[in-house]
Amino acid sequence: MLFFALLLEVIWILATDGGQHWTYEGPHGQDHWPASYPECGSNAQSPIDIQTDSVTFDPELPPLQPHGYDQPGTEPLDLHNNGHTVQLSLPPTLYLGGLPRKYVAVQLHLHWGQKGSLGGSEHQINSEATAAELHIVHYDSDSYNSLTEAAQRPQGLAVLGILIEVGETKNIAYEHILSHLHEIRHKDQKTSVPPFNVKELLPTQLGQFFRYNGSLTTPPCYQSVLWTVFSGRVQISRGQLEMLQETLFSTEEPSNLLAQNYRAPQPLNQRTVFASFVQVGSLYTTGEILSLGVGILAGCLCLLLAAYFIARKIRKKRLENRKSVVFTSARATTEA
Ligand SMILES: *[C@@H]1O[C@H](CO)[C@@H](O)[C@H](O)[C@H]1NC(C)=O
Repeated sequence: MLFFALLLEVIWILATDGGQHWTYEGPHGQDHWPASYPECGSNAQSPIDIQTDSVTFDPELPPLQPHGYDQPGTEPLDLHNNGHTVQLSLPPTLYLGGLPRKYVAVQLHLHWGQKGSLGGSEHQINSEATAAELHIVHYDSDSYNSLTEAAQRPQGLAVLGILIEVGETKNIAYEHILSHLHEIRHKDQKTSVPPFNVKELLPTQLGQFFRYNGSLTTPPCYQSVLWTVFSGRVQISRGQLEMLQETLFSTEEPSNLLAQNYRAPQPLNQRTVFASFVQVGSLYTTGEILSLGVGILAGCLCLLLAAYFIARKIRKKRLENRKSVVFTSARATTEA
């Protein structure tokens, strides 16, 4: 009996995902990934928490140049619920310049939090997550023939990370993806999306980003990714975030909502995070600047008070000295 149960488990494990079954929480959750996928437990993993006061400014980093992003052609694009995320296929006419080699686009996908949560990004900046994150995946087409071939090689992949926060208005570019989610509610469902300007999914400041060597953020966690995480964010509306959090299922039956599909930040270890820009002003948050201002004012006031009291004391001492002089000389005269 136990034997058959074990056999069934083995068959089931082999049948899913061409190897192992993984999730974000529970018995197959991220803490257990290294058991089935050893590289997930290695020392250059993604995502990371970028501490901006520990990054290294690299003036040699050229601005990132997305080519073909604004002309995605005429062919419809595949949109797919793969049970872990919603993924849009991209044609190889989209590629990146400004990296050591030419990297062509393959797909983009999203990570987000649970229903109602404003934390769902994978990367964090100064320990702050945003509501969601977009990843645009590319491979080094100068050196390799396919994503599969490049996926296990150092810097075989280049991924753009775009932090998404909630704003006042609907983001029309993201609507090209989000408005189709209801067509692919269940795992393994696919639909076609009319081509649109993919560049509009990116933040406006393409010149300000962080760069580091990391990994895929899902099993098998290959450490093959040259990461670019933009400093600037994009905004979607609260309604759009809710659509992302509440429409998809991670299963073929409508049982488990597909949400909270983000990995926790991984140790930086010996790696360096480079920045293409020097942080001006944003080195301090508004709160910190305010408290700094209050602190300086209070400091000045203390100094003034101290100066006042010291001056008063000195004056008192002088008066006392003068009095005692008068007194001694008075005594001297009477004694004489
Ligand atoms: C990534 O690793 C390679 C090989 O160790 C190194 O040459 C390169 O400078 C690293 N790049 C970054 C952005 O850390």
